[in-house]
Amino acid sequence: MPASPDIQAFFDPQTATVTYLVSDPATKAAAIIDPVLDYEPKAAHLASTSIDAVLKAAADKGLKIEWALDTHAHADHLSAADYVRAKTGAKVGIGARITEVQKAFRSLFHVEETASDGAVFDALFADDEHFALGALDVRVLHTPGHTPACITYVIGDAAFVGDTVFMPDYGTARADFPGGDAAALYRSIQRILALPPQTRIFTGHDYLPAGRDKPAWESTVAEQRARNVHVHEGVTEDAFVQMRKARDATLAPPVLILPSLQVNIRAGALPPPESDGHRYLKLPINRLGGGPK
Ligand SMILES: [Fe+2]
Repeated sequence: MPASPDIQAFFDPQTATVTYLVSDPATKAAAIIDPVLDYEPKAAHLASTSIDAVLKAAADKGLKIEWALDTHAHADHLSAADYVRAKTGAKVGIGARITEVQKAFRSLFHVEETASDGAVFDALFADDEHFALGALDVRVLHTPGHTPACITYVIGDAAFVGDTVFMPDYGTARADFPGGDAAALYRSIQRILALPPQTRIFTGHDYLPAGRDKPAWESTVAEQRARNVHVHEGVTEDAFVQMRKARDATLAPPVLILPSLQVNIRAGALPPPESDGHRYLKLPINRLGGGPK
């Protein structure tokens, strides 16, 4: 039997994101997966309430935060990875293909001074790379589709799948962001669903489908295979791609896509201050949906 990490989930109702505090019961070594900075777009107000609650929970349990891990460059919230690194000395890790995402978005935001070599992260994980969390083994699976750099962290009997499969009654993540690919997402999900059936699946968001009023984030491989509304057993790749493309065509961009991506290609750090000492984010006009310069 694989080891079983301690897992505490924190649901952010603002962005429907689930942040996980994962720890090794034997050594108290811990990782925070997909930490959130609170960003209120009307006043461009940034706060650390959500992540501070996670850090407090970790301190209360006597955990040592060794890693701040993102499953991908999120388009719906600002990552608190850099904040966690500054507060705790944790290393920041993400999938190796983040460099593709950095290249695409530093060009979109015309921030050529932003490095696209991944150096702002402490670890760029390759497919099937392993690293230690205390006495636990962490295995990285490259699971692209939602974005080209998405990864899944398999820690003992738990898989943190980010935005690939959501809860069985909600389905799957969108695959229409730059570099997204519905067929790749289908294949990545098959890879996740080939893990042992009792593997616990922890998803990156829960958007509360009609008929359910409480957020949920934990399922198993067996449950996903039996009843995920988009990818239960028997759904072919062609059928999935058709469904996913039709559904994605109806979805608006996430509210925070522009602030999120320009911060998340910097591991959650803001751009450097300008000559007045303040930091600014950019809004590229007509560059997401297309249109005149
Ligand atoms: Fe995402």
